[in-house]
Amino acid sequence: MMGAPGAGKGTAAEGVCKATGCRHVSTGDLLRQAIKLDTPLGRKADGYVRRGELVPDEVMIGLVTEQFEAAPGALFLLDGFPRTLVQAKLLDEALKARGSRVSRVFLLETPRDVLVQRLGGRRLCRKCGASYHVTNIPPRRPGICDKCGGELYQRPDDEEKTILNRLEIFERQNADLVAHYRGQGVLHALDSSTSREDTEAKILGAMGRTGAG
Ligand code: AP5
Repeated sequence: MMGAPGAGKGTAAEGVCKATGCRHVSTGDLLRQAIKLDTPLGRKADGYVRRGELVPDEVMIGLVTEQFEAAPGALFLLDGFPRTLVQAKLLDEALKARGSRVSRVFLLETPRDVLVQRLGGRRLCRKCGASYHVTNIPPRRPGICDKCGGELYQRPDDEEKTILNRLEIFERQNADLVAHYRGQGVLHALDSSTSREDTEAKILGAMGRTGAG
């Protein structure tokens, strides 16, 4: 699942994985968890994530292949990975070595003003990581997670200056990735500026699945 920061990758991935049984691997979530737990990986990644820069490719491919090793034979939905052409090529090699491949790539497209509005209003649960938006997808009680009652907070990299840096980095890397996956005939671009339900339905439709199973 590719797309700019705020395109709705994480939000759509949650529903798609629920409907299909795919395992959701969000590299952003894995990095934030490592930072929270203050692991060696977390200490290495912290500065990059805080500034909205990309964590080095060799760190990222290791993080993702660890997930493959933890669940051999599973179907994975990768969210936010690969993000550079080098990562895409390393992923191709890692999958080939396992007798597998990237079967589909969903590119979520949303206008810049919508991205900025979404990121500025995003709130996450400190306890369970559930994601909300103060106006688009609000929790029932402001500041409180519907799922676990945890406190909602704003990601440090959702501050305006860092958002613009992240969008710029995405725009620089995206053309190469699009060309790579278009060349493989697996790219499926879709408009994700509509509702969460609509975006999920488009992805499930392209996977030949319905929300029911
Ligand atoms: P990561 O966590 O992956 O951040 P990102 O790609 O910038 O994406 P976001 O999580 O910001 O956006 P999203 O598209 O998932 O949107 P969401 O669904 O939350 O990465 C963070 C950092 O980690 C990177 O900057 C980098 O430092 C590092 N990193 C991660 N992967 C890496 C890699 N492969 N290589 C190197 N470094 C890496 O939605 C956003 C908001 O909009 C939410 O509030 C949501 O409620 C709302 N919303 C979502 N969909 C809709 C909708 N359809 N309608 C209305 N509102 C919606």
